Amino acid sequence: MPDRLVAPSILSADFARLGAQVDEVIAAGATVIHVDVMDGHFVPPITIGPIIVSALREHVGEAIDLDVHLMIERPERQVADFAKAGATGITIHAEATPHVLYALDAVRAGGCRAGLAVCPATPVTIFEEVRVDLALCMTVNPGWGGQPFIPSSPDKVRRIASVVGDDVPVMVDGGVTVKTAPECTAAGAAWFVAGSAIFGADDPASAYRAIAEAAGA
Ligand code: DX5
Ligand code: ZN
Repeated sequence: MPDRLVAPSILSADFARLGAQVDEVIAAGATVIHVDVMDGHFVPPITIGPIIVSALREHVGEAIDLDVHLMIERPERQVADFAKAGATGITIHAEATPHVLYALDAVRAGGCRAGLAVCPATPVTIFEEVRVDLALCMTVNPGWGGQPFIPSSPDKVRRIASVVGDDVPVMVDGGVTVKTAPECTAAGAAWFVAGSAIFGADDPASAYRAIAEAAGA
C-alpha cells in the first residue's frame, strides 16, 4: 500500500503571503503541496497558472512534491507548461478531454506523475481503461474550497481502489477534515487533500497535524 499523507491545498491559503503559508505546513511535516488550477470553463473560477507553480518550485526547492490538479478543459494543451514550471505530479480530469490517454502520456512525457481525477458523477470504470500513477476521487464537486464532503464518497473510493490495485494511491479531495478523513482511510484512500481545514484554521501547522493523525498518516 502507498504511504498515507496529507497534501495541503493552497487554494485556501493567503496568496499575499503564499511562501510563508507553505513554509508553515512544510515545517509541520507536509511533503506534498496541492495546487488547484481552474480555468473559468471546466469550473467557473479562475485561479492560477504555471507562473505560480514556478515561483513555488523556486521557493520550496527540489525536495517538496508539487501536486498540480488541473481543473481545466483540454489539459493536454497545457501539461508541458506545468511540467516545465516544476510540477512533480499533474492530475487531469477524465471529463475535461476526449483524449485522456493522450493527456496522461503527455504528463509522463514531461517527467511528471500522471494522475487522473473523476468528478462525483463519473463512473469509476475509466480506471479499467488507462494506467495511472494516482487516482483522484473528488469528494465534492470541483471548483471551490470549503464545501461539505459528499457522504457517498467512501463507497466510491473503495470501488476505485479495487480497480487500480494496491500500488496506486487513491487521493481524496474536497471536504476532508478530522471528521471525514477516517472513513476515507477505512475505504482505502492514501493521499488526503485538505484546503480550508488547514489554511482556514488559526494555526495551519496544528490543523495539518490533526488531519494527518485522523487519516492515520
Ligand atoms: C476543489 C479543489 C480542492 C480544494 C479543497 O475543487 O480541488 O483541492 O482546495 O478544498 P477543501 O479542503 O476546503 O474542501
Ligand atoms: Zn484539488
